[in-house]
Amino acid sequence: MCGIVGYAGPKPAAPLLLNGLAKLEYRGYDSAGLALLTGNHHLNIIKKAGKIGNLIAAVKAAKVPASITSGIGHTRWATHGQPTDQNAHPHMDCSGRVAVVHNGIVENYQHLKKQLQDKGHQFRSQTDSEVLAHLIEEQLKKHPWKEAVRRSLAQIQGTYSVVAVYEGEPHTLIGARSGGGALVVGWGKGETLLASDVPALLAHTRRVSYLDDNEMAVVTPTGPSFLNVLTGKPVVKKVSEIEWTAEQAEKGGYPHFMLKEIMEQPRALEDTFTSRLDPRTGSVVLEGKFWDSPFIGKFKKITLLAMGTSYYAALVGKFLLEKYLRIPVDVENASEFRYRNPILGKDTLAIVITQSGETVDTLVALREAKAKGARIATICNVMGSSATREAEGVLITRAGPEIGVASTKAFTTQLGAFWLLTLFLAGKRKTMPVSELKKKAKELSRLPQLMAGLLKQRKSLEKIAHEYAHYFNFLYIGRGIHYPIALEGALKLKEISYIHAEGYPGGEMKHGPIALIDSKMPVVAIAPKSSAVYEKMLNNMEEVKARQGRLIALVEKGDKLAAAKADAVIEIPSVSEDLSPILSVVPLQVLAYEIAKKKGREIDQPRNLAKSVTVE
Ligand code: M6R
Repeated sequence: MCGIVGYAGPKPAAPLLLNGLAKLEYRGYDSAGLALLTGNHHLNIIKKAGKIGNLIAAVKAAKVPASITSGIGHTRWATHGQPTDQNAHPHMDCSGRVAVVHNGIVENYQHLKKQLQDKGHQFRSQTDSEVLAHLIEEQLKKHPWKEAVRRSLAQIQGTYSVVAVYEGEPHTLIGARSGGGALVVGWGKGETLLASDVPALLAHTRRVSYLDDNEMAVVTPTGPSFLNVLTGKPVVKKVSEIEWTAEQAEKGGYPHFMLKEIMEQPRALEDTFTSRLDPRTGSVVLEGKFWDSPFIGKFKKITLLAMGTSYYAALVGKFLLEKYLRIPVDVENASEFRYRNPILGKDTLAIVITQSGETVDTLVALREAKAKGARIATICNVMGSSATREAEGVLITRAGPEIGVASTKAFTTQLGAFWLLTLFLAGKRKTMPVSELKKKAKELSRLPQLMAGLLKQRKSLEKIAHEYAHYFNFLYIGRGIHYPIALEGALKLKEISYIHAEGYPGGEMKHGPIALIDSKMPVVAIAPKSSAVYEKMLNNMEEVKARQGRLIALVEKGDKLAAAKADAVIEIPSVSEDLSPILSVVPLQVLAYEIAKKKGREIDQPRNLAKSVTVE
């Protein structure tokens, strides 16, 4: 969703902030803006609805001098008020001396706005965020800059990451965070940066501090200092080193990040296994004390919490954990979790699965599970994110930065992580014989290579995509552990091509969805022969054919029986049933990509979507 960049240092601020915002485009946005402190310290606000290109043109037209070396930038994803120039951030106070950018929602903004209007403040936008600029203006009548911001923030209810600038102190940016949304401080040499997300910082520094709830960073070119918003007391923050490189967050010659990330999956999976999975002994090592604590041998229930693609990974995880640990596993849509008084307690291991580690629904569920006494672990792709800071046990997927809004390598590495977790726990709790652990570990370690082979099929998938891109609806069906893959395949297609697509368990067809089947309905059937319910899937495929449905079958290489039933065939290598989701999802990602490309969609930033959903 919205993105924030702030800079205080010796370099020209405008191009640096624009580059930073471009790195955050993937988060999803509909307007963008800058606040720059000009040579004579006047605040200059430039903001435009639409893509960053519009803002770049406006900055060029404004002839911003290179001597301006501090400022803030923002990409907005509209919540309150339409995506117009006026509603774009930064927002100013009445005097035009204070500017703020804000991610999140000010829940009590109507009440605060009324109070401020009664005092004579004039509002220029329909946003909730503007109240903060006016609150600061009020506080500046009585307090210096830092204290004025702190006192203003203390009046706000809701979730926020904010950065504020003031022409009275042009080289002191103030950032703060509460509830949801991230704010990262970058420690440069003679320069300090702020950003909502690490990719905006990578070109400048890899030394960062993450703000926690109710923390404020006072940022000057010589470095940041930190304090608690509620108490005003100083806070000492840890400095972490980011492992990602600036190159990893570039397209690297691919036309889209999504394609690059699809192609990176063999490497990402291999990295996720490296130093953890030993195929010779079948043992798994997970980093961190939590995984060796007595609780790991004792818990009686697992609750998996996630959203979107991560939720579908959790559905696969349930199959593995229940099958090999014989422990009950609930999978919960995180956005629903806290509203139904869920049953979990001290003997529950709650695992949140999240690529970004910043999805607010998932974080709220994490906190709810913690409040109910569960111990918390996370499968997460972003070290330092809120999920990794709030969980006791952390299993990092090593996918590297995922920029395309449609999740791909994060998903397959999440499945890899579930396998690591399953083998690790099965080894600890002795629920699998060592021979079986070794067999699975060996098979797993072969997957990256098989996946690389599978990706060579891109041409044939492109052909299928061109044949099917004009259809308006798709169904995806799968059974057992392949049902979540049907859901994920359908999600990929709808997200980036805007074609209506739904995933169903094959057995559900006759209970309703089959009414939709006719010659205008392509059905993607996930039918690997290794499946325990392969025969039943063949029956479902026959049912589709009998009603003239257009059948695209995903089958194991050489399975002539299943292939003969289909109008189009996608082949995957033969592996055991539990492992095949890691492979079967890959051609479905490519198919969605090729269809979206054929339709000329904005693949990396599909309409209405944001990479990281930081408001409820
Ligand atoms: O960062 P997270 O894994 O917590 O994100 C959860 C979902 O928002 C995310 O998976 C979303 O569904 C993707 N756009 C799917 O491609």
